[in-house]
Amino acid sequence: MRDEDPVHEDPKIGGWIVTRYEDVVAVLDDKRFSAERLPLTDEGYGSARAMREALSSQLLFLDPPDHTRLRKLFAKAFTPRRLDTFKPQIEALTHELLSSCMGRATDFIHEFAVPLPVTVIALVLGVPTDDRLKLRGWSAAFGSLISGRPIRGSEVAQALGGIAEFEDYFARLIQVRRAAPEDDLLSDLIAAEEAGDRLSEQELIANLILLLAAGHGTTTHFLGNGLLALSREPALWQAMVADPALVPAVVSELLRFDTPVQVTGRKAIQHVELAGRRIAEGARVRVVLGSANRDERHFANPDSLDIHREGTRTLSFGQGIHTCLGAVLARVEAQIAFNALVTRFPNLKVGSDLAERTSSVTFRGLQRLPVSLQ
Ligand code: HEM
Repeated sequence: MRDEDPVHEDPKIGGWIVTRYEDVVAVLDDKRFSAERLPLTDEGYGSARAMREALSSQLLFLDPPDHTRLRKLFAKAFTPRRLDTFKPQIEALTHELLSSCMGRATDFIHEFAVPLPVTVIALVLGVPTDDRLKLRGWSAAFGSLISGRPIRGSEVAQALGGIAEFEDYFARLIQVRRAAPEDDLLSDLIAAEEAGDRLSEQELIANLILLLAAGHGTTTHFLGNGLLALSREPALWQAMVADPALVPAVVSELLRFDTPVQVTGRKAIQHVELAGRRIAEGARVRVVLGSANRDERHFANPDSLDIHREGTRTLSFGQGIHTCLGAVLARVEAQIAFNALVTRFPNLKVGSDLAERTSSVTFRGLQRLPVSLQ
């Protein structure tokens, strides 16, 4: 498609598919493409108005000025300096999880890549330790909503239940933190709300749900995809074992190579000419980040892992005003995880033949990756 029909109209999905790097950037930088893309009818979301309401105040689905207002508040509570203070706890958690898997056959996804990110995001938000397991179930149910595939029946009921429990839980936690603030993200956000920065409790809760859902499925997939790719590059693994200072460059390249968010979408709010094609007002446009990251017009030898690439920004965290809010946190987590793996388990064995992919088109990841931590 990149060569033959890079801005492709697809009647089957009722919209456009954009696959070249430059065109993807152009769409994500263009105000004529709106992020407010939730279906106006309930089709694909069961009959769940509550779901649409919960989604519609999330950053990911908002345009300016609401997006600008909320993003500023969340970014304030989410600065790299603030996240730095969590590094020692993330390291401790990483080592604890790895130690619990040592010396036995392990599924890297379920025993490491799932629990690490959800525990970290709960920690950053300020969710008490005892409640963190609950969040995992709720946000998995909610994750099915934004997975890019239509969901029906019992899955709708499950996702709705997840949202309702999330909302109740956070409404109670907000009361607790309001009465006695702590040094956590939630207390910062409540303070912003009280300082009259126009963050309503409903907006706060909707975006806490987003942080949890966006923050853990993606990072889980990244850790799994990354380890699988490395298991096929023994020389690179050995280079990291010899020099763990390579880890940040490896993490960046792995993000480009096999990115967890393959596709995102926008809706045209006017007619737009893109690469010679006329996209009509109201049309849906899917931009394929995974394809842009492998665009040979932008990256030399795109299908090989090369940690010495320079000056080439990957689109794994998106582009423009919706660029991932958790990018720094995701990188820190992955760097800590791969650092711990190469230093503690230089002879790690990965059962790559038994790896199983998830079925979503939007999110690319693994549901199983057997490893032996020796
Ligand atoms: C490797 C892991 C991750 C990847 C690949 C990833 C990818 C992305 C992408 C591609 C977008 C932009 C989507 C669009 O423009 O439509 C995005 C947005 C977002 N991400 Fe991430 N993400 C990751 C981890 C995280 C983490 C850890 C958090 C939370 C702590 C997070 C929170 C968010 C939020 C809140 C947004 C919406 C920002 C906005 O609309 O202004 N992400 N992410």
